[in-house]
Amino acid sequence: MLTLHQQPDRSGRYQALRPFSFDEHLNVLCVYDTDLISAIFRSADFRINPFADHYRTIAERTGLDFKASIDTLDNIPFSKEGAEHRRLRSAMTKVVSDSARENIAGMEAFIDDLVRDIFVAGEEVDLMRQLARPVFHELFSRWLKVDQREFVKESNFSQVFDGAMSLNRRRKVNDSLADLRCAFAQRADRIPTTPEIAVAMNALGNDALTGSLVLSFWHVLEQHPEAKLSAVQFPPNLVATGVPFIERIANRDVEIGGMKVARDQKVRLVIDATSRQVSGEEADLFFGRGRHLCIGKPMTLSIWRSLARAVNRLPLRFTLGEIRLRSGDYAFNYPEFAGVRLHD
Ligand code: HEM
Repeated sequence: MLTLHQQPDRSGRYQALRPFSFDEHLNVLCVYDTDLISAIFRSADFRINPFADHYRTIAERTGLDFKASIDTLDNIPFSKEGAEHRRLRSAMTKVVSDSARENIAGMEAFIDDLVRDIFVAGEEVDLMRQLARPVFHELFSRWLKVDQREFVKESNFSQVFDGAMSLNRRRKVNDSLADLRCAFAQRADRIPTTPEIAVAMNALGNDALTGSLVLSFWHVLEQHPEAKLSAVQFPPNLVATGVPFIERIANRDVEIGGMKVARDQKVRLVIDATSRQVSGEEADLFFGRGRHLCIGKPMTLSIWRSLARAVNRLPLRFTLGEIRLRSGDYAFNYPEFAGVRLHD
């Protein structure tokens, strides 16, 4: 069950488990139903998962230093409620809303040029390395006003959210967060926010944006096996998500949508089960709902639509190659390689 969200044939399994079921292995109530997930997102009876506490416990138990991970998670708005949540959310909103129109136009132009450069007849494109990662870096370099490409070497920092990964990987993620914090601190006079917020935004946006773009793009191409890129119909919204689930904890004994949840019980909202790729639904839950609604949603959708327009300008045919999900990954659906070959 730890990696059900990565199984290619998970659709039937989700169907069988709907609307919710208790997972004994995870000791978590898993919710697969769109309306129930939406109701829990909006409910004041459920609080967020305080991610940093998990690291505090591990640090205490092992004597290892997880300061960089703890600092990052303490700056993530969806690991806080109340006044601290509002403070962090507003700090990040300030970054993404500055020059928003200019950034949307700039991203459109960047994607246009990039797609023209890499989608060339006779070549194979790795959608993650050549498309999604450059898009991520361009966006964050615009938002944070420093060229991230100069100093981001590792790209595993989003995995800080993974509650189940190995200790070894956890230490590597911590090291790359510490390096990232240090790089932003050295540029503190140029960035429009604190180094901690800059790091937290990178951790929030990286795997979510790149994973969702690549998986959605791949899935749409899969639906058009014989078409030219110019004839592929891209829906206006993403069809697959790199963020397969989000967790909440009940504040009190509560009954919601026929599901009884005991106080302090954890529930896993399996957004992936509502994705168009898996269920055929158009659920619009990929970015959450309510007070923790994703602040990257408008830009992510704008990027997706720019990508669709750029690709639709090309009269090329394509063949899907290999897609490889990152292994040992219990929090994201992250294709570390996705190859597409282009032909005339
Ligand atoms: C462009 C990069 C992105 C940034 C900077 C970003 C940032 C954020 C922030 C700051 C929040 C927390 C809001 C709050 O707690 O008030 C959030 C929530 C969320 N984001 Fe994003 N996000 C990005 C992309 C994405 C993508 C591509 C997805 C998935 C398709 C996604 C899925 C979510 C979800 C599900 C939540 C809700 C979490 C919860 O309710 O616990 N994000 N995002």
